[in-house]
Amino acid sequence: MALLEGLRLSKRFGGVTALSEVSFTVEEGTIVGLIGPNGAGKTTLFNLVAGALKPDSGRVVFRGEDITGLSPNIVCRHGIARTFQVTRPFGTMTCLENVGVGVINSPRSESDGNWRATALHYLETVGVEDLAFTEARHLNVVQKKKLEIARALATRPKILMLDEVLGGLNSQEIVQAVDFIRRLRDELHLTVFWIEHVMGAIMKAAEKVIVLDQGQHLMEGTPEQVVADSRVIHAYLGE
Ligand SMILES: Nc1ncnc2c1ncn2[C@@H]1O[C@H](COP(=O)(O)OP(=O)(O)OP(=O)(O)O)[C@@H](O)[C@H]1O
Ligand SMILES: [Mg+2]
Repeated sequence: MALLEGLRLSKRFGGVTALSEVSFTVEEGTIVGLIGPNGAGKTTLFNLVAGALKPDSGRVVFRGEDITGLSPNIVCRHGIARTFQVTRPFGTMTCLENVGVGVINSPRSESDGNWRATALHYLETVGVEDLAFTEARHLNVVQKKKLEIARALATRPKILMLDEVLGGLNSQEIVQAVDFIRRLRDELHLTVFWIEHVMGAIMKAAEKVIVLDQGQHLMEGTPEQVVADSRVIHAYLGE
């Protein structure tokens, strides 16, 4: 079943066409990879879904409901959480407080009498509970990415949208991170929509991969189909 759909989404920035009539579907319970060369429009697509940007045309449909153009906090309450390619924690707040912002943005926040305990739970989920009382500005890049995932999870999303979370990890850590994302999907019954340049990770984790190139939907398929596709190879080599 389609959980999230984009229908002919277009977005221009002045003279630059970031996305041109891009349609896609993310099926419930799957991990869908979103790949493409630099500037292909991947983050712009996330911004249109998450409400950070409004499309010039086209629609975003989530669980059968048109959510096009809703503000980010309303989109979040529908069950869509995202991380940022460039992390943006509240630097002078502790990690616990940063995740607490996610807890309070959860549609189920009424039942969270104790936001601290819930926030700590999500810090533990991503393995940075020892940083609970550290101000976020002191974290390194990898720790900030983990904090972002904890904050996203704390909103109890149905879909988790990850924008390049593997940056800064070595190959062994990447393998662990892929296992972690798959376990999150299984244990929290999540759907994952994942932008990543680390191709090996997407190939291992995703059931479906969507390829963007120069603002257009180039092709989609299984990881095996995508890596063997001459259009995809050309898009990357032509970079
Ligand atoms: N706020 C903005 N203002 C102007 N141009 C923008 C803006 N955001 C994105 N663009 C342009 O839109 C195009 C798509 O950018 P986008 O960030 O979506 O690409 P991307 O696929 O995420 O790339 P990367 O892999 O480098 O993160 C690029 O040409 C980019 O310069
Ligand atoms: Mg990007």
